[in-house]
Amino acid sequence: MAPLQPGNPLDLAAISCALLVVYFVGIAFYNVFLHPLRSFPGPLLWRISPIPRSIKLTQGKLPFYVLDLHNKYGPVVRIGPNELAFSDPQAWKDIYGHRHNGEPELPKYDGLYRIIDNVPRGIINTPRDEHSMLRRQLAHGFSERSMQAQEPIIGSYVDLLIQRLLEQCNAGLTTLNMREWLNWTTFDVIGDLGFGSSFDCLEKSDYHPWVRILTNSVRQSAFLVALANAGFQPLVRIALRLGKLAINDNQALVRQKVSQRIELGVERPDLIEGLIKKNKEGVLSFKQIAVNAGTLIVAGSETTATLLSGAVFLLTTNPDKLEKLTKEVRSKFNSEDEITLTSVGSLSYMLACLNESLRCYPPVPTGLPRQVPKGGVFISGKFVPEGTAVAVWQWAINHDTHFWTEPYTFAPERFIGDAKFKTDQLEAMQPFSVGPRNCIGRNLAYAEMRLILAKIIYNFDMKIDDGSRGWIDTQEAFTLWHKPALNIYMKPVAR
Ligand code: HEM
Repeated sequence: MAPLQPGNPLDLAAISCALLVVYFVGIAFYNVFLHPLRSFPGPLLWRISPIPRSIKLTQGKLPFYVLDLHNKYGPVVRIGPNELAFSDPQAWKDIYGHRHNGEPELPKYDGLYRIIDNVPRGIINTPRDEHSMLRRQLAHGFSERSMQAQEPIIGSYVDLLIQRLLEQCNAGLTTLNMREWLNWTTFDVIGDLGFGSSFDCLEKSDYHPWVRILTNSVRQSAFLVALANAGFQPLVRIALRLGKLAINDNQALVRQKVSQRIELGVERPDLIEGLIKKNKEGVLSFKQIAVNAGTLIVAGSETTATLLSGAVFLLTTNPDKLEKLTKEVRSKFNSEDEITLTSVGSLSYMLACLNESLRCYPPVPTGLPRQVPKGGVFISGKFVPEGTAVAVWQWAINHDTHFWTEPYTFAPERFIGDAKFKTDQLEAMQPFSVGPRNCIGRNLAYAEMRLILAKIIYNFDMKIDDGSRGWIDTQEAFTLWHKPALNIYMKPVAR
């Protein structure tokens, strides 16, 4: 056989291929036999390469598959060469909680939180020091006192929702796509609280273009994250530069809305008042305010709307639970005016229904990864080396039979001490995360969800349309859910 000639194009191609094969075999060998995570179990291909994980992510199936992996490999699974998934209540504290030795909490993993580098960081992905400052500024807008002041704002949109639903019914349209109506309500509320002006979705019975962009970007963002995680970062940059992607349009619209809010020049009991004050003091730039206002809108609208849609679906497909909740709501209140942000706090079965909906259908179904700092840490009693991405996967832990009796049954009773569910480990479920970077909007979310659901149930009898019976089963799950239409037969209550 003639020796290979690097000058010959065919031979050069053969040499390049051979080198590539050696390179990839070398990486595979290292990842399986020499990598610091080599002793953690997981599927072979997933331990070798990030690509299988990225493929499952773009298919919208990763959160469900992670549960299959836990069932097969146990509470700690290696789901990428450099990534571990945990299904254990203790892992919530170890990964996301305050650390007892005074060390800073585990930082967020940039592989998810920083796929594009041309946007300033906001509260979600900023490093610890700036985060503490932002959180302090925002905390005021989320206090009990501020929430009382926000009640008329929130209440006005919930009343508008009921009015618009009644109008639809009176016009003969009794089967309504509740996904849209709930989305429109939470976006209008948060638009007002975050930007100082509503998106007018309820008024127009349509999506504001910005809201449509956001709801449509769920798949797009997952695809970009998957590309970045699989090592194709340059492709992500090219995709973003080529423009026409939701993320780009999104930023321009946020800046416009925030400018309008600042130009109002008045103090409002909304969520960005604290940030605007810091802008006036020269501590925060306009760009930083815009990024954080945008974050508030995304974090506070889609999540709440998703949970409410999930609750409506789960209740209408479990009519006995809906009946029980209906009794609670209608016996508690004698008139519409009695249903307020404060009074809905006393509905205990309502809270159980919302919690069970959060378990069955967590608005953030994936894992939110943190990066193990220098020196490594112990998580669930296991030593994890530095640099590893670690997370608890919400949908997976919420359906793990180690922590839940009949995890696929919608049973609000498990949250109110029913003996049948006495072995359930309620602390396994943390839909708002835990620790210093948990959800700042948790109380607002609960209050808003209770108010909206209570007013709907007070005013309407609901029945699911047969075409929507498989609504959750067919959904793709990315960092958020890709939700199809949710058609519900709405019948106004005669009073
Ligand atoms: C059912 C509704 C909601 C769910 C399930 C939810 C869930 C979460 C989760 C899991 C996190 C942690 C994110 C991470 O670790 O990266 C988070 C953070 C956050 N959420 Fe929520 N959220 C909800 C509603 C809201 C609302 C109504 C708002 C505000 C208007 C809000 C604002 C935020 C903000 C600003 C953060 C970042 C906090 C920080 O980093 O300090 N969320 N949320």
